Amino acid sequence: MTDKAIVVAVDGPSGSGKSSVSKGVARRLGLRYLDTGAQYRAMTWWMLHNGVDVTDGQAVAAACVKPVIVSGTDPDEPSISVDGEEVGKQIRMAEVTAAVSAVAGVQPVRDRLIALQRQIITAALAESGGVVAEGRDIADVVYPTAESKIFLTASPEARAARRSAELGAVASGGAGTTLADLTRRDAEDAKTTRPHEAAPGAIIVDATHLTLDQVIERVVELVEAARG
Ligand code: DC
Repeated sequence: MTDKAIVVAVDGPSGSGKSSVSKGVARRLGLRYLDTGAQYRAMTWWMLHNGVDVTDGQAVAAACVKPVIVSGTDPDEPSISVDGEEVGKQIRMAEVTAAVSAVAGVQPVRDRLIALQRQIITAALAESGGVVAEGRDIADVVYPTAESKIFLTASPEARAARRSAELGAVASGGAGTTLADLTRRDAEDAKTTRPHEAAPGAIIVDATHLTLDQVIERVVELVEAARG
């Protein structure tokens, strides 16, 4: 294995386990961790908090230059702040989840966040062993030269069950509601990114019948193979 700094792109649909897998892989390999979905959520939280109509693309485009979004990239303690306020909990609220696809579909929002993501990745390459970046478009848009590209997927039922367990089945109304919600979000996200399609050069990992540890192990093997 060489010590060359690397970028690991982990893309995939909602509920595929990207966050847990990406953090686990980053810890195992001593890399930084970047959650790009958290940035889209932070942008959405700021819009809602500041009374911007998230269904008005022009209003969102005009406002999206204002919030200062900072992502902490320690996989043991990932953080996200907006204008200095830590919003890690707020961005997981149902209101944000319901609105995030609309905000993420506004091109100036994407342009701004993609530029920020590239800055963070470049800094991680310069200052550490590299970074595991997770999202929907890392391998094809944000960082097409990533040394290792993983497309993480799972059956809709497995994804819904995972999301339901994360949220607490009572609060989410059970896996049935979560499956409907996931399907709706997948469809909305598909207008902007390709949540069900692996980018060229990406290796598909299907997590449906694997435990979290097994998926992490598989991805670590793939990264080490790509590193040479
Ligand atoms: O991974 P997540 O559920 O936290 O992502 C939140 C939303 O952000 C998701 O609905 C799609 C969008 N997103 C995106 O468009 N591009 C990314 N790179 C990451 C997330």
